[in-house]
Amino acid sequence: MSVKVFQTKEVQDLLKAASNLDGSNGNARFQQIVHRLLGDLFKAIDDLDITPDEVWAGVNYLNKLGQDGEAALLAAGVGLEKYLDIRMDAADKQVGLDGGTPRTIEGPLYVAGAPVRDGVSKIDINPDADAGPLVIHGTITGLDGKPVADAVVECWHANSKGFYSHFDPTGAQSEFNLRGAVKTGADGKYEFRTLMPVGYGCPPHGATQQLLNGLGRHGNRPAHVHFFVTDDKHRKLTTQFNIEGDPLIWDDFAYATREELIPGVVEKTGGEALGLKADAYKSIQFDVKLTPLVQGKDNQVVNRLRASVAA
Ligand SMILES: [Fe+2]
Repeated sequence: MSVKVFQTKEVQDLLKAASNLDGSNGNARFQQIVHRLLGDLFKAIDDLDITPDEVWAGVNYLNKLGQDGEAALLAAGVGLEKYLDIRMDAADKQVGLDGGTPRTIEGPLYVAGAPVRDGVSKIDINPDADAGPLVIHGTITGLDGKPVADAVVECWHANSKGFYSHFDPTGAQSEFNLRGAVKTGADGKYEFRTLMPVGYGCPPHGATQQLLNGLGRHGNRPAHVHFFVTDDKHRKLTTQFNIEGDPLIWDDFAYATREELIPGVVEKTGGEALGLKADAYKSIQFDVKLTPLVQGKDNQVVNRLRASVAA
């Protein structure tokens, strides 16, 4: 079957009716977006002769995606979240905003509500025999290099199995294990005492991995640590760093890796005095430069549904 019906009046009228484009009710912006996305889908069906069987496979896939609760994970895996970052980077360039720590994707596994500590937080609550001690530390500054006091630094990362607390299918982790929040003092410094994470893989039987299998792609990420850095006088930064040496650093299924976000890992001793599980430990310095508000506003803050737990 190779018919072209997209440009017919019947189809164009159908699109307008389905999105209620000229209707007096509804939200005009929402109607505009639905009209465009539906139109792009209809046109793709015409252009590629997508068969009814293929369309229904796609519709049923959406059901599975929702049942698995993986729509936000898929958004990372198909590069949609990276694309939003590319657009925000371009917007920054347009207004001459340069020199801050680069942003990268948030991913779907943040949980709000971690207890906020002053300066230092030990965030490994549950024992993890396969993970060695790790100290993550750094200084939060503005573009002028001056320390930022009262910034809140949040981090979250996986355990040695690649699972995040709150989302761990084994139920092995308590709430806020390997998640923390620290408020900086006048020196702008923060420190997390924790355990070394490993990379994360999509749930093997979930909808995201199913789509990736069809594309012949893997669903793995290199070991990484997520950050939010929030301060009243600066834009909120959403970023991550990767653990240096991970073989997947440049083969991340979620496209989060950036050249500037691979700090060195240093071997240290003296961990017992810090309350770590062994004297020898690894240390990563990750300094963060925040960018100023744009015309008094945080134009890069992103509102999205996030998990939240009362601490
Ligand atoms: Fe992650």
